[in-house]
Amino acid sequence: MNFLDLAKSRYSVRSYSDADVEQEKLDKIVEAAMLAPTACNNQPQRIYLLHSADALAKIRSLTPCTYDAPAVFMICSDSSRSWHSPFDSGYESGEMDASIVCTHMMLEAQELGLGSCWVLLFDPERIRSVFSLPENIRPVCLLPVGYPAESSRPASDHSKTRSVSDVYCEL
Ligand SMILES: Cc1cc2nc3c(=O)[nH]c(=O)nc-3n(C[C@H](O)[C@H](O)[C@H](O)COP(=O)(O)O)c2cc1C
Repeated sequence: MNFLDLAKSRYSVRSYSDADVEQEKLDKIVEAAMLAPTACNNQPQRIYLLHSADALAKIRSLTPCTYDAPAVFMICSDSSRSWHSPFDSGYESGEMDASIVCTHMMLEAQELGLGSCWVLLFDPERIRSVFSLPENIRPVCLLPVGYPAESSRPASDHSKTRSVSDVYCEL
């Protein structure tokens, strides 16, 4: 499958089958994460896999958006490693780096026949507290992954896209 076909086939999966994700596939998703570009190649991502019954119960209590997926990646940024802009005081690249990492993971999951959903609906401080994350580690997003349920379909707004001319032009 070429890249555009892969991107077109992806949608946010919000209903998963009971089947677990094979370790080999989880490993490949992490491999894709490690290939992502980051500012100055600082690689400030910190990735946690929530796969045990205990970890899944905790994350499911912190957001309604894991959709009972059998595995959830929590992608964080480490402020002690992220790039700090010399031009824009206070700007650091951690969230952007972690987002590129998560995009790689999401598309690799798709290539492996898995579904996923990017999730932002959580309180980072509550996650930090429940999982005892250090101060420098900020949860950026969650990525539940699993095999889509047979009944899984894209949401009705999935194919609603703005026109190219609305978002793109040559200057
Ligand atoms: C930054 C970001 C945050 C999102 N947060 C959530 C979320 O918390 N819960 C959820 O169900 N979907 C979430 N989504 C998924 C979007 O709703 C979804 O990507 C969008 O509606 C387009 O649909 P599609 O992914 O099926 O193409 C998020 C997506 C992005 C990129």
